[in-house]
Amino acid sequence: MNNKLIAPSILAADFGNLQRDVEMVNNSEADWFHIDIMDGVFVPNISFGMPVLKAISKHAKKTIDVHLMIVDPDRYIKTFAELGSDVLTVHYEACTHLHRTLQAIKAEGMQAGVALNPHTNINVLEDTINDIDLVCLMSVNPGFGGQSFIENTYNKVKQLKELITKKGANTKIEIDGGVTNKNAKALVEAGADVLVAGSYVFKSDNQPETIRGLKAIANS
Ligand code: DX5
Ligand code: ZN
Repeated sequence: MNNKLIAPSILAADFGNLQRDVEMVNNSEADWFHIDIMDGVFVPNISFGMPVLKAISKHAKKTIDVHLMIVDPDRYIKTFAELGSDVLTVHYEACTHLHRTLQAIKAEGMQAGVALNPHTNINVLEDTINDIDLVCLMSVNPGFGGQSFIENTYNKVKQLKELITKKGANTKIEIDGGVTNKNAKALVEAGADVLVAGSYVFKSDNQPETIRGLKAIANS
């Protein structure tokens, strides 16, 4: 895939000015909205839930990429489809019957994603990679924005890219956590297709310009 995608993470937005920040993403060169849903059980933090996603969906004009950091995500697949999710990503570590979960996501008309924690080896996806539209490689431990990028991620991107090629799969690779202008180029060179960026975008002084710069680096 040639066009590398940028997905600002709304977790780092100003929730008191959510519509303003959603419109900023709409009017920027960003490709996707990345939406982090945390339940305080799978990860040690609670972010926001359905009413907030509903409010975002009402204004968002780009692909809505929902990252579920929750236990037993099967309970809410239908709900997230109804809320406007285009991509629904569940954690490998939270699914007992991953294959069934992936089929259920697709049956609701969404793209099916699987996220891997930093400690989870790529080889656990050997038997499902052809059923996965997107693999989200966590480059921090999930639960919080603003953490430092884990350097071993580069090795994992390369291993995942090899697996996708070997199996003839059509799976996108997304990187989530600590993405900045410093690591974007190397991530894309290793095989990444989608870069999630929260703090780097929303804590910057000129957010559209930061997005534009990241997009340019990723596609240079
Ligand atoms: C972490 C979330 C990330 C987070 C990224 O659990 O999954 O999407 O918002 O934020 P930054 O870019 O600040 O690391
Ligand atoms: Zn995320």
